Amino acid sequence: MMDRIALVVGATGITGSNLAQELVAQGWKTYGLARHPKIEKSDVFPVKADLLDPVDLMRALETVYPTHIFFTTWMRQDSETANIEVNSRMVRNLLDVLSKKNTVEHVALVTGLKHYLGPFEAYVGAGVFPNTPIREEQPRLEYPNFYYAQEDEIYRAADRDGFTWSIHRPHTVIGHAIGNLMNLGVTLAVYASICKETGKKMLWPGSEAQWRGLSDVTDSKILAQQLIWAASNKDAKNMAFNIVNGDVFRWSWMWGRIAQYFGVESEGFNGTVTPLADQLANESQTWQDIVKKYGLHDHELFELTSPWHTDLDLGRPIEVMVDMANSRKLGFGAYQNTEDSFIKLFEQLRLERVIP
Ligand SMILES: NC(=O)c1ccc[n+]([C@@H]2O[C@H](COP(=O)([O-])OP(=O)(O)OC[C@H]3O[C@@H](n4cnc5c(N)ncnc54)[C@H](OP(=O)(O)O)[C@@H]3O)[C@@H](O)[C@H]2O)c1
Repeated sequence: MMDRIALVVGATGITGSNLAQELVAQGWKTYGLARHPKIEKSDVFPVKADLLDPVDLMRALETVYPTHIFFTTWMRQDSETANIEVNSRMVRNLLDVLSKKNTVEHVALVTGLKHYLGPFEAYVGAGVFPNTPIREEQPRLEYPNFYYAQEDEIYRAADRDGFTWSIHRPHTVIGHAIGNLMNLGVTLAVYASICKETGKKMLWPGSEAQWRGLSDVTDSKILAQQLIWAASNKDAKNMAFNIVNGDVFRWSWMWGRIAQYFGVESEGFNGTVTPLADQLANESQTWQDIVKKYGLHDHELFELTSPWHTDLDLGRPIEVMVDMANSRKLGFGAYQNTEDSFIKLFEQLRLERVIP
């Protein structure tokens, strides 16, 4: 495997950190790039660079000759116009620097279901409702979307440099990461821990459609498996792949299971939406008290949680679940039980003293 050299871009995030671990486990030489690459796994070689700074990138990658690029990062901006400018520039800067090295064989890009649902500002406000299950063949929407801009950067560079590519579109990613931008699993773990400590019920924060409808999610480990599968499989080239766990569930069931794990009461959709952002707005001190009482790692409430994102995902006005025809037809058969995804994450957070 050592002739295969991976560069994981965004290596401390929920996608990148779990992917880097899996690559190392499968014997790849693996570099991990981030602005602050605090990579605990010593087998990942850290590359400290800012993708928005081409000179910095060139310096940081001077002695790195990757064969496979896994682009697993984004930066959240105030508008989709700004998202497009910044996030496409990150891809372009990296591929421009690597172009001169002439070593890259494959580039995998992780985007997501906003490809089909529209960017946050459109799928919440403007009501873009795709058919479900969401299929890879569904065309681009007319709304501007930073995922499309990132894809276009990949296509352009692939034409120029001759590498193959794959695009990976997860649903909500469930996995371990601390302090990343969007993490529904850690957010629910912290919320449930606060409910437990204060004797409150876990109140469903989302819509009726999400409460009652079918749903699925993407374990960060199964996303990692698909990324490596596509990079390693000669038929899985120049295609887009949806990726989810392979089971479906209803939040009206899962919410109670999560509450049960934490030993708290739960309440489902009761006619009004009670966003998590509101429920957690005044709980920073409560969390600090919990941290002190149980001797936890000292993370701020809003460093660990991303209620804005959990509210958007659980507040969608339609049920959302995903079809994986493209990779299934090519033989990608991995499956992950979703309740186990949550429980494994919660156990790890407990073991690491992130939650009580
Ligand atoms: N999280 C989800 O639930 C979810 C669901 C569906 C789709 N997606 C999509 O998946 C893709 C990857 O997102 P993610 O959630 O895995 O990201 P993430 O957890 O927020 O991680 C982002 C990573 O990128 C690094 N980074 C950010 N800005 C950088 C810069 N300027 N230069 C270098 N590194 C930078 C961060 O580290 P530093 O801060 O140290 O630089 C971190 O390692 C995105 O397109 C996202 O929209 C995510």
